[in-house]
Amino acid sequence: MSLDTQSYALPVARTVADLRAAIAGWRKAGQKVGLVPTMGALHAGHLSLVDLAKSKVDRAVVSIFVNPTQFAPHEDLDAYPRTEAADAVKLAGKADLIFAPAAAEMYPHGFSTTVSVSGVSQPLEGKFRPTHFAGVATVVSKLLLQAMPDIACFGEKDWQQLQVIRRMVADLDIPVEIIGGPILREADGLAMSSRNVYLSETERKAAGQLNVILRETAAKVAGGAIIPDATREGADRVRALGFDHVDYLDVRDAASLADFPTGRVTAPARILVAAKIGRTRLIDNMPV
Ligand code: PAF
Repeated sequence: MSLDTQSYALPVARTVADLRAAIAGWRKAGQKVGLVPTMGALHAGHLSLVDLAKSKVDRAVVSIFVNPTQFAPHEDLDAYPRTEAADAVKLAGKADLIFAPAAAEMYPHGFSTTVSVSGVSQPLEGKFRPTHFAGVATVVSKLLLQAMPDIACFGEKDWQQLQVIRRMVADLDIPVEIIGGPILREADGLAMSSRNVYLSETERKAAGQLNVILRETAAKVAGGAIIPDATREGADRVRALGFDHVDYLDVRDAASLADFPTGRVTAPARILVAAKIGRTRLIDNMPV
């Protein structure tokens, strides 16, 4: 195969060999390279990561790969939006290359390796999606080794994922700078997500209040409230909005995601929530 320069306004590499050849050309010209890993269905949040990358390096590669290993069998792998042509239109004039491998390119027959990060992967999302972060860490380590970028940008919306990736890159000595990009929000504060398209009109309205409850609960904890008391009350308010289930709403150490045993914040902290409304599971977080 070779680089596809015909289908879209920017080139697409579908194989690791083509990705590496394109990047080698830039490196020869002394250019620095950034990678923005995505699963496609791009929204303004993703595009802000591409802008962030381009503000720091010469070339930005956006990978689009709906990674099967980070979905559990009951999750939305088949339903996950796949909008490559529309994504390419959004990336035109912003990114320099799309890397969109097929599943068989990433996980060829006989693939047997899993990258598993303990500690930071285990609470919160790790409890409710026990195989998720191993899938993320495996695919992200592959993408980093395939592209060998100078920087890689990830959204703070997936805060725990960002901490897992930071830990993995430090532990495995992968020579890349990991950069977190701030959460982009809709007018009512709903964190932008590819999964927001699943929401009905009523669900969308309730979802817009999730960030308000998060902010108010964070303010209570910052003002001295005991964490389990404030978060229990916050979770009750989320359920009262019409959410069917709150997987967690908690205040944790911002880097390790460990809890605060005294019930009070003693280090930089983050409030994080995951809650289900209808068939859509939403996550959000912010600093405390
Ligand atoms: O955040 C995502 O979209 C995915 O988890 C990632 C980092 C692209 C890995 O598949």
